[in-house]
Amino acid sequence: MNVIRIPSIFMASATELPFPDNYFDAVFTDPPYYDNVPYSYLSDFFYVWLKRAIGDLYPELFSTPLTPKSKEIVAYTNNRSWEEAKKTLRTCSANHLRRYTAFLNQTASL
Ligand SMILES: C[S@@+](CC[C@H](N)C(=O)[O-])C[C@H]1O[C@@H](n2cnc3c(N)ncnc32)[C@H](O)[C@@H]1O
Repeated sequence: MNVIRIPSIFMASATELPFPDNYFDAVFTDPPYYDNVPYSYLSDFFYVWLKRAIGDLYPELFSTPLTPKSKEIVAYTNNRSWEEAKKTLRTCSANHLRRYTAFLNQTASL
């Protein structure tokens, strides 16, 4: 008998994923590369229009005036040196990749 599984989609920071160890069969990731693309700042452009159009339908996704930036894994230099920014990005990336490894079950792939 075929079993149809309905996928769940939710939003969370990669730094705070609420899953137990050995939960997934696979994890696909495409993490940011230093300060190569300022994703959150670019996203502000359409976020403000989406918020006006559909913000009342998804209030939990549009609860902030602009896109959330505090947990973004990126090497911005707004309030820190380039060396500090690089170190933060590398530490955050290593931590969340390590966490992904723990999420995976014995037969899984990252
Ligand atoms: C290389 S891009 C991924 C591009 C995507 N694969 C695509 O094809 O459009 C990296 C993404 O990681 C997101 N990102 C940065 N920090 C994050 C975090 N803490 N949690 C979840 N996503 C984050 C960025 O907003 C950006 O969308």
